[in-house]
Amino acid sequence: MIEVKVRVPGKVNLALRAGARRADGYHSLATVFMALSLADEITVTPGAAGSVTAAVTGEGHESVGSGPDNLAVRAALLLRDRHGTPDLGAHLAIDKRIPVAGGMAGGSADAAGALLACARLWELDVTQDDLLDLAAALGADVPFVLIGGCALGLNRGDRVTPVLSRGSFHWVLALAAQGLSTAEVFRRFDQRGDAAAPEPPPVPPALLNALAQGNAAALGATLVNDLAPAALSLAPELRRTLDAGLEAGAVGAVISGSGPTVALLARDEDAATTLAVRLSSEGVAKRLLKVQGPVPGAQFV
Ligand code: C5P
Repeated sequence: MIEVKVRVPGKVNLALRAGARRADGYHSLATVFMALSLADEITVTPGAAGSVTAAVTGEGHESVGSGPDNLAVRAALLLRDRHGTPDLGAHLAIDKRIPVAGGMAGGSADAAGALLACARLWELDVTQDDLLDLAAALGADVPFVLIGGCALGLNRGDRVTPVLSRGSFHWVLALAAQGLSTAEVFRRFDQRGDAAAPEPPPVPPALLNALAQGNAAALGATLVNDLAPAALSLAPELRRTLDAGLEAGAVGAVISGSGPTVALLARDEDAATTLAVRLSSEGVAKRLLKVQGPVPGAQFV
């Protein structure tokens, strides 16, 4: 049987600057994404004519629906409606590694993977720009997962431009036991009055320099997340994780996106190992994972 397999990375936001809620309910962002070596795998096979189905396995699969609300299923249906014919069918086998509701774009990654894999399975004549348009319609983080690497995200985070980076950065991810809803974290951000203006503050120029130079210590010092106060007010225990990471030698610590995953930046790969070992005895996370970035976006395996 024909089978198309893709690997889709999770992300961390190195900077996440947010403006006030807009009339459409979204927030204007200025964000810098980095794709990480923690990826979901999606295997697509032909389905019954006209039907798109999914099955989810792996990390946190119990809390991901496989019906029409699944973002990967919606991605396949949107692609078929815009660029295919109603008789096309597919089955999506989604194997999760990216934590669910973890602030690492796991659902968005699956949607990006479904777009790429179904376009190949159905032999559709679509360009990267076509896929990026569909991606933006599916969710703010989906376009980034298609391009991967490091990128600046403007508008809702969906208007992405690659940014220069040098070498690899080594991280320890502290995964939390309970997920956080992105919509809820943004609502708390609004209630707290955390937005300084309608437009987001700028990404620190020093952060972009540190990335371009491959300087982990300088990058660590410039990590910033405007959603952190809102996420911390919903999940106060994350403060301990951030502090413990810095005390254990991380050169930077940041809540990833809307949380609750905490990303700890290490000076190099050996330092990441030491950091993970030191933290493992502290009980500050459900699980610790060593990852590196940047990695490419959605890719055929
Ligand atoms: O785009 P996505 O569906 O991933 O976003 C989830 C929720 O996060 C949105 O419904 C919205 O409430 C909030 N959000 C936002 N501003 C953004 C991105 C997301 O308010 N730029």
